[in-house]
Amino acid sequence: MGLGVYGFIPRHFTFFWKYLVTEIRDGKRSPDVDGEILLLMVDADSRGLGIGRKLVDKFLAEAKNLGGKSIRVCTDEASNWRFYKNYGFQRYSDYFDELDSFIHKKSIRGIYYLIDLNKAS
Ligand SMILES: CC(C)(COP(=O)(O)OP(=O)(O)OC[C@H]1O[C@@H](n2cnc3c(N)ncnc32)[C@H](O)[C@@H]1OP(=O)(O)O)[C@@H](O)C(=O)NCCC(=O)NCCS
Repeated sequence: MGLGVYGFIPRHFTFFWKYLVTEIRDGKRSPDVDGEILLLMVDADSRGLGIGRKLVDKFLAEAKNLGGKSIRVCTDEASNWRFYKNYGFQRYSDYFDELDSFIHKKSIRGIYYLIDLNKAS
């Protein structure tokens, strides 16, 4: 029998647990860098108009200006990881994403991409 109404407590506990496990494992497998793209999202109606590229161009130029050498991004199979690949980011590692898999109820792999700012165009 579940705890709370309709298993509310176990579901939230599991979410919190998966979040912790993902955060701790992430810290160990992520590459050391000078900066990170944490979240990039363009409104679905405005995609393909060059907005994402402009934002990333600006961010990378600013990071380089500040003396940064490398930038990482953590994405996953459910997101538009090809955007970064086309951009010149190199795949660094991938892993089973506990939290996203729990949320989406299917197995999702997280992916780390890395870009060397000295080689970026
Ligand atoms: C990823 C995202 C931010 C790109 O923003 P956007 O404004 O649509 O991208 P742009 O129009 O600037 O496209 C830039 C380049 O990437 C390419 N690109 C965009 N989406 C692509 C896709 N799904 N597959 C391959 N290439 C893609 C474009 O063709 C363009 O290339 P070009 O400059 O050579 O013509 C947007 O698709 C998004 O918000 N996706 C949902 C959230 C997400 O997946 N975020 C990234 C992972 S964390």
